[in-house]
Amino acid sequence: MNFLRSAFAPLLLLASAARATGVAPGQIKNFVTFGDSYTDIVSVGDGGTAWPVYASGYANVSLFPFAKSGATCSNNLTNRPFPSVFESQLPTYFGETSNGGDDAASLVDVTTCMVNWVKVLYDSGARNFIFQNMIPLQHTILYSSTGYYTKFWTFPRNATSWSVSVTELTLSGNDLTQLKLQALLPQIPGAHIAHFDSHSLFQDMLVNPSQYLNGTAPLNVTGCVNSCVFQVNEPDSGACTLVNGTDRDSYLWYDELHPSEQADRIVAREMALVMEGKASKWATWLS
Ligand SMILES: *[C@@H]1O[C@H](CO)[C@@H](O)[C@H](O)[C@H]1NC(C)=O
Ligand SMILES: *[C@@H]1O[C@H](CO)[C@@H](O)[C@H](O)[C@H]1NC(C)=O
Ligand SMILES: *[C@@H]1O[C@H](CO)[C@@H](O)[C@H](O)[C@H]1NC(C)=O
Ligand SMILES: *[C@@H]1O[C@H](CO)[C@@H](O)[C@H](O)[C@H]1NC(C)=O
Ligand SMILES: *[C@@H]1O[C@H](CO)[C@@H](O)[C@H](O)[C@H]1NC(C)=O
Ligand SMILES: *[C@@H]1O[C@H](CO)[C@@H](O)[C@H](O)[C@H]1NC(C)=O
Repeated sequence: MNFLRSAFAPLLLLASAARATGVAPGQIKNFVTFGDSYTDIVSVGDGGTAWPVYASGYANVSLFPFAKSGATCSNNLTNRPFPSVFESQLPTYFGETSNGGDDAASLVDVTTCMVNWVKVLYDSGARNFIFQNMIPLQHTILYSSTGYYTKFWTFPRNATSWSVSVTELTLSGNDLTQLKLQALLPQIPGAHIAHFDSHSLFQDMLVNPSQYLNGTAPLNVTGCVNSCVFQVNEPDSGACTLVNGTDRDSYLWYDELHPSEQADRIVAREMALVMEGKASKWATWLS
């Protein structure tokens, strides 16, 4: 299972000059994204406008989007027939191409891969980074203990066991990544890295939805805007319901795996604060 791909979204900020910790107001002019469907602006995961487009508008910076739906940190670790950050996005960024292998992944490999990504870009001259951690995936319908079968998975599964595993993977993956980022700091002098705690932000949206969701339907953090209920082992059985118009902004989730457009506007708002050199409750400058 590709738990870890689903919220992998490191981001890069390009700026003219540097200062001690964090970036100065007005310093960031360009915003380069790497990641998966949570960050892709073409194949958009939230059914609307992707958060990097909102964020670049809110912060008035130019967006250079390299994130691709289905991307993993490296296809060498988690083999999928989609472009990955290391095998496709970075080579595209550097104007190159490359193919991946199909080695087995472990949590340590994946977190190492995510952190190495920062080093590779640093070595190419990048200095300002935002590193976004994984959201609480166990609250998506795909990974929840009470979730139904979805277009993402119709084979028999033990939902309780998936939920327990994804909770542990998300928590330990986020912890490992933060430790590895801290350990990397001495090797990347002059760099500024913000750690953006998407995990806590989404937990807060789950617990205090009225502070974030503003649609015209009853607030809803368990269902989704575009839901398709499948029967086990029946990949053509999807019974779909679509929520439309201003009702959508009442939902935390767009589908069984992805946040809604309103949730993404909140991410964008907080990201824009970081890019503008202002404080976000969810971001910490590590250097
Ligand atoms: C946005 O940035 C551009 C280019 O840096 C600048 O010309 C423009 O005035 C800015 N717009 C706002 C609303 O700050
Ligand atoms: C992936 O595997 C290929 C072939 O073994 C290797 O050349 C490449 O360096 C690997 N990429 C990463 C990011 O480890
Ligand atoms: C599902 O997984 C849970 C937790 O691992 C376990 O306690 C339970 O017995 C499993 N249920 C079935 C039907 O295998
Ligand atoms: C949340 O939305 C889903 C899908 O539209 C719906 O089935 C469910 O009843 C809603 N839950 C609440 C508490 O409104
Ligand atoms: C939402 O729009 C779709 C497509 O226009 C329509 O099929 C569906 O019935 C609408 N949903 C509701 C709840 O009205
Ligand atoms: C909810 O708030 C966002 C800004 O976060 C705004 O763009 C959107 O239009 C609002 N939605 C509704 C239904 O008012």
